[in-house]
Amino acid sequence: MGRLENKVAIITGAARGQGEQEARLFVREGAKVLITDVLDAEGEALARELGPAARYQHLDVSREEDWARAVAAAAELGALNVLVNNAAVVMAKTIEDTSLADYQRVIGINQVGTFLGIRSVIGPMRRAGGGSIINVSSIDGLQSKNGLIAYSSSKWAIRGLTKSAALELGPHGIRVNSIHPGGIDTPMGNPGSVSSETLDRFYTLQAIPRVGQPVEVAWMAVFLASDEASYCSGSEYPVDGGWNAGARNPLLPGGTLP
Ligand SMILES: NC(=O)c1ccc[n+]([C@@H]2O[C@H](COP(=O)([O-])OP(=O)(O)OC[C@H]3O[C@@H](n4cnc5c(N)ncnc54)[C@H](O)[C@@H]3O)[C@@H](O)[C@H]2O)c1
Repeated sequence: MGRLENKVAIITGAARGQGEQEARLFVREGAKVLITDVLDAEGEALARELGPAARYQHLDVSREEDWARAVAAAAELGALNVLVNNAAVVMAKTIEDTSLADYQRVIGINQVGTFLGIRSVIGPMRRAGGGSIINVSSIDGLQSKNGLIAYSSSKWAIRGLTKSAALELGPHGIRVNSIHPGGIDTPMGNPGSVSSETLDRFYTLQAIPRVGQPVEVAWMAVFLASDEASYCSGSEYPVDGGWNAGARNPLLPGGTLP
């Protein structure tokens, strides 16, 4: 028996990166998965590769009408139990260089997209007898960095969405949690497509001194989607190599660099 046997999941932004790894693991663990994205060619190719347990549906998470179509497509796979709100965009600009349109675009996808996703699956999950909603935030939703005003705002908002939704939906058997990845080797975390070893150099001061791999986040999503997480709701789950613990100080005892 897989850990997600008999579950049906929608994963947003699943054509590549962390969402792709989640789709792969979910199918391996027995789930049926609606892979959704705006990258149609990549999403369709992944669904073909994963076989009959996977299907692709175009879903721009910022568009309400796309959500209605995605929920209808998921219904053809069975009763909906899981939503992974994974899709996002990042934008690195100073505050002064960030136009209103820039800011609203990031908020529209990352924050509004997550809200629309949560709202869209309440009916189907209630009819299914419950479910698990997994919202992908970031370490930038726990702390922040310069140059990430819009992205960080959206990722902090996802924490609030998660907690409010968890309280409202808990009595209906729907659990809602957020995942907070650290630096992960995907097109978003590694836009220059350098090797993982090169990227590791930027993470020497964190507890686990290397970049994360997308599958390491996907395993957390498997846990939160599964019945193993039956008493987990409204909480934050970092997958960040210990980033949140602070930075190793090479000048203090035990602070040797790798
Ligand atoms: N990579 C990192 O270092 C990192 C760190 C912290 C958090 N995250 C978060 O993890 C999640 C996955 O990111 P990733 O690293 O796999 O990045 P990625 O860029 O590889 O994947 C993001 C996916 O979202 C899709 N997408 C973008 N806009 C969309 C829209 N409007 N509608 C639907 N899909 C859309 C993209 O096409 C892409 O397939 C995101 O929420 C991201 O913010 C990533």
